[in-house]
Amino acid sequence: MKLAPETTRAEAFAQLRRAFTKARIDTPEIDARILLGEALGVAPIELTLRPETPLGAGPAERLNGFAARRLAREPVARILGFGEFWGLGFELSPDTLVPRPDTEAVVEAALAAARDPAAPLRILDLGTGSGCLLVALLHELPKAWGLGIDRSPGALVTARRNARRNGVGERVAFAAGDWASPLAGAFDLTVSNPPYIATAALERLSEEVRRHDPVAALDGGPDGLDAYRALLGEAHRLLAPGGTVVVEIGYDQEEAVARLAVATRLAVRRVARDLGGRPRAVVIGRREA
Ligand SMILES: C[S@@+](CC[C@H](N)C(=O)[O-])C[C@H]1O[C@@H](n2cnc3c(N)ncnc32)[C@H](O)[C@@H]1O
Repeated sequence: MKLAPETTRAEAFAQLRRAFTKARIDTPEIDARILLGEALGVAPIELTLRPETPLGAGPAERLNGFAARRLAREPVARILGFGEFWGLGFELSPDTLVPRPDTEAVVEAALAAARDPAAPLRILDLGTGSGCLLVALLHELPKAWGLGIDRSPGALVTARRNARRNGVGERVAFAAGDWASPLAGAFDLTVSNPPYIATAALERLSEEVRRHDPVAALDGGPDGLDAYRALLGEAHRLLAPGGTVVVEIGYDQEEAVARLAVATRLAVRRVARDLGGRPRAVVIGRREA
């Protein structure tokens, strides 16, 4: 597929949608619309209002590049270098996972656990990536302060930018580390969306994920549980009195993570489901004496 400068917006949209459908891309229409708008630098409504306008040379060249990348299974968010989470915008880099809508279940569960939203809560985000979990929570909890940890220095650069662009940069710090091992101190709320795919299952992920998300954000070790062992092993020591840990899990990890929590003197308080009805966020606290 090669779009010429004189191709109209409507025709370009139709050609992209056809090519994406033929390539079995999941959301051909949405992807075509977003990439067309981005190549032209216009809002989606403009595409509807002026469908007969020719693309022009620059946008046609950009759009051909975007289409080739999407047909090579690069996700739209990677092509744009930008994704949305919790209604906020997040820059992305090759070192950050694309934030997933299902991860919003962790934000919801954490907010429900934060009994007083006006309290000066101390929040810890382990494996912060783009910073999406921590930034969303600080956005909702105006008196809270947060620390985001990641092993990837590149991810931390992007997380800092995302905190600033979403207006919470003054209430957050980011640091490199191996989970919580370098930390002391007490946190009211610890959140984490750790890597939780079993190593052998990585090759069965879609090409979009396997080839474009950083492997460090996906690989949870032989049984997918390595990160939970490390995280929960440290959690007890870092929990403030009455504090809560909320971790994202894979669809079949509820029991295994509950067992790990119990083994580390913690207890599961509840399990929240995602939009698809699957167990997604495990809310954990200290076990009652
Ligand atoms: C699944 S991604 C989650 C990113 C982000 N919190 C989100 O929800 O989109 C997991 C993150 O954990 C980080 N990570 C992996 N191993 C780590 C470790 N040992 N210590 C700290 N962070 C680690 C990865 O670099 C990655 O950013």
